[in-house]
Amino acid sequence: MGGEAEKWVLMVTARTPTNIAVIKYWGKRDETLILPINDSISVTLDPSHLCTTTTVSVSPSFDQDRMWLNGKEISLQGGRFQSCLREIRARAQDVEDKKKGITIKKEDWQKLNLHIASYNNFPTAAGLASSAAGLACLVFSLAKLMNLKEDNSQLSAIARQGSGSACRSLYGGFVKWCMGKEENGSDSLAVQLADEKHWDDLVIIIAVVSARQKETSSTSGMRDTVVTSALIEHRAKEVVPKRIVEMEDAIQNRDFPSFARLACTDSNQFHAVCLDTYPPIFYMNDTSHRIISCVEKWNRAEETPQVAYTFDAGPNAVMIARNRKTAASLLQRLLYNFPPQSDTDLDSYIIGDKSILQDAG
Ligand code: ADP
Ligand code: DP6
Ligand code: CO
Repeated sequence: MGGEAEKWVLMVTARTPTNIAVIKYWGKRDETLILPINDSISVTLDPSHLCTTTTVSVSPSFDQDRMWLNGKEISLQGGRFQSCLREIRARAQDVEDKKKGITIKKEDWQKLNLHIASYNNFPTAAGLASSAAGLACLVFSLAKLMNLKEDNSQLSAIARQGSGSACRSLYGGFVKWCMGKEENGSDSLAVQLADEKHWDDLVIIIAVVSARQKETSSTSGMRDTVVTSALIEHRAKEVVPKRIVEMEDAIQNRDFPSFARLACTDSNQFHAVCLDTYPPIFYMNDTSHRIISCVEKWNRAEETPQVAYTFDAGPNAVMIARNRKTAASLLQRLLYNFPPQSDTDLDSYIIGDKSILQDAG
């Protein structure tokens, strides 16, 4: 380790988009390694709309690992953060910054402490997958800082141990998280099904029904479901495996009617399983239900579906329009029926495209 009077700081900043599942992950077979009970498929969003920006820094003057989320210090003691930090430090390489005259040897990373500052440009813990963008960005930025040689798929297996959905944010476009078979989780990782240029007609509109933090986190919600729901096993074993195959086909063939049917029914089944959990979990609210009715009525009035909807573990609607013209019409209908910032309706709208992982570092 070098550098004048040990006063140096080395830092890296990265930006990572969130992803929204169209075939949902819900339920773990291993809580510590975060191994799921079924495969899942997601769309990565455009990072200019919903993303996490994380700066990681290292200095001999830091006396402990510390982290700030949206400007407030949070504890890094949780097992998930510790798993990610341990896995990354174990793979750290020599780093040299000639301009600053700094040399860090592999083994130095075990002793050096980190400061991590992360910002989400969208609501945290509100069902818009902040844990996905957040943990993927943490792993990605630390991997850059410590000069890891691993590729994105190997990094996805580390991000998975921070938050399951995070493994899918290491790629843009359409991404599948393969549940894997190995007990140690080595084959439970993300693969890209199609990049962000494939099917670029699609437009995503997010209706932020409520930016408030949800009452039941995804982690505790799915734990309760696995223990108490009579339907979850049927979903994981019988329903999802067939849907994964069909969804992969729909994506490859840009088959919007099949894509929309699968995404909507899978979202609805996920929320049905939440209702089948005891005590029941209500992630959607009246406004969410009214949005579903509005889209369903419209789709039924047309020859073929125009819009797909999906809701994660929160009340906020993610709608995928088949093209720009449909998106304009959808927005018009939404603004008329759900004017933002009125007492009863939505907080705001976010409009974006699918996109790729961006590295601002
Ligand atoms: P969401 O639906 O937003 O993913 P979760 O309940 O899955 O909600 O996860 C929310 C938790 O994820 C937060 O309480 C926090 O612990 C973690 N998280 C969110 N954003 C970040 C971030 N940028 N960096 C690190 N952790 C984050
Ligand atoms: C409904 O990945 O947030 O968004 O692995 O416990 O961190 P942990 O949970 P998380 O769960 C996401 C659930 C979901 C569906 C999905 O993203 O596939
Ligand atoms: Co989450």
